[in-house]
Amino acid sequence: MNTETVTIKNSGATFTPTALADFLSDKILRYFDGFPEKCTILDPACGDGALLTSIAKKINNTFDFELRGYETNIEYLIEAKNNLSLYLSENQYEINHCDFLEVAMPRANDLFFTCSNHEFTDVVIANPPYVRTQILGAEKSQQIAKTYNLKGKIDLYYPFLIGMTNALKKGGIIGVITSNRYLTTKSGAEIRKFLIENYDILEVIDLGDSKLFDAAVLPAILIGRKKTSKRQLSTPCHFTKIYEEFQLSKNGNISKIHSVYDILKQENSALYTVDDGRVFNYSVGLLKHSHIKTDIWQMTNDDENKWIEQIQKNTAFYIGDKFKVRIGIKSCADNVFLNENWGKEFISSEKKLFRPLISRENIERWTCSTGEYSKVLYPHYSANGKRAVYDLSQFPKAEQYLNKHRKQLEARDYVIQAGRRWYEMWVPQNPELWKFPKLIFPDISVGALFSYDESGAIVNGNCYWIVAQIDNEKELLLLIQGVANSSLMAQYHDLCFNNKLYSGRRRYLSQYIEKYPIPDPSSVFSKRIIEIVKLLNDKCSLKKELEKELNDCVNKAFGFTD
Ligand SMILES: C[S@@+](CC[C@H](N)C(=O)[O-])C[C@H]1O[C@@H](n2cnc3c(N)ncnc32)[C@H](O)[C@@H]1O
Repeated sequence: MNTETVTIKNSGATFTPTALADFLSDKILRYFDGFPEKCTILDPACGDGALLTSIAKKINNTFDFELRGYETNIEYLIEAKNNLSLYLSENQYEINHCDFLEVAMPRANDLFFTCSNHEFTDVVIANPPYVRTQILGAEKSQQIAKTYNLKGKIDLYYPFLIGMTNALKKGGIIGVITSNRYLTTKSGAEIRKFLIENYDILEVIDLGDSKLFDAAVLPAILIGRKKTSKRQLSTPCHFTKIYEEFQLSKNGNISKIHSVYDILKQENSALYTVDDGRVFNYSVGLLKHSHIKTDIWQMTNDDENKWIEQIQKNTAFYIGDKFKVRIGIKSCADNVFLNENWGKEFISSEKKLFRPLISRENIERWTCSTGEYSKVLYPHYSANGKRAVYDLSQFPKAEQYLNKHRKQLEARDYVIQAGRRWYEMWVPQNPELWKFPKLIFPDISVGALFSYDESGAIVNGNCYWIVAQIDNEKELLLLIQGVANSSLMAQYHDLCFNNKLYSGRRRYLSQYIEKYPIPDPSSVFSKRIIEIVKLLNDKCSLKKELEKELNDCVNKAFGFTD
């Protein structure tokens, strides 16, 4: 095994490439000015020792230090010892074969409890494992969540961040590579709060899709100084973010530069192209923390902040103020409910149960594709506006079909535990709402694909939908559709929610869409937006021209003149 990237499936072990390890070491040492008599440097999940080796080489014996590593995998641990022994004497490093989360767990609430595993290190350098706790198994993840007082969906790097903070001395420096997801996701809220409370955050570097690192997640680096008291005020934190640019405008200025690392040394936001031809949008600025500690960490620079403020000044309402953004149906047994061969099952004659389904692949910008939708077996109906489930004895063929899959369906014990029938969907949504006009968009796509539907079709769980329940809401829905599909909103989405995936794809989650700003519906520009959207939804042949005019109207509706 070498120190280049090695990925071992499911173990969360993606080793840090040397160049990235050196980049992180340099960052940490730039902020490290404590110089105690002997400095302790910790990697709590050291793998083959790439990070410890890098920082030791960078220090180059300019001060006295001791490295401390933890690793649960004995083969990696042996590799780490071998690698470190090439540069260091034996008394300069100690690699322990144990679970760091047991070592650095939060203290019991006991006045007489002393813990030698807390506040022992001056520096933490880390790239902790990325493993969703679902993959760890229920028992292990519940035990970690309980010990570390974590709730909701967690990733293994959350307890690592807490454990590392316990291990770090007050005033000590942490430099850590994690997934960038905690910066902007709902599930990252508690960890963002924890970091703000415990650190003066010095730098956040969102490495985006720059591919410096061969992990399945997009990585980010956080550099922080542990606060000496919780009341210590934070200094403004620098952010850097770098994402590949896929939608280049013809007149944009692009500077040539050798590599992504060279871009990361630049002080100004700009577009850069590197030797292999990729173009990156590089942005630097000060991180905007709102006074609510759980809020997402918005990475926007001064010019971008002015642009966002202008939009917010001209906002009449946010989508979430007037509409609920819902996820589509989730059966948790799609092979049964979304069977592609209904014909062979001889049950499609029981028409009431078979409903057209709009899925991600049916959606285009403006309209859903006119091809045959697939059908879903939907055992729910609306009784006086409330969700009800059909009695299967009315549908003997479907009953026979579902009985064939009964074992699989009953294995969804959460459905049964919720007091529901074994053949119900897990998330059926309210059957009353399908008949209303709605906007539908896929949860992940390269650009916005807000489409309009009046067919009454059901929406699949890989899409979200917004429904207009009363007649005069329909026009608002069209205004929302126009704004959501505009170039302005694409930029707003990237700046405010910063949740891009690889290859320019974006997540369109309800938590973001509910925060989309909408201009005054009574303005002349909004009225024209609605007219244009109607034409586009009717597949008018002048699509290009209309989209251009729409973009112009959206800009003007938010107060931007050319
Ligand atoms: C993402 S790799 C990073 C390794 C190394 N720090 C680097 O940057 O190359 C994470 C490492 O953590 C180890 N690991 C996973 N769970 C651990 C735990 N609870 N305690 C200590 N090490 C752990 C894995 O075996 C793996 O080697």
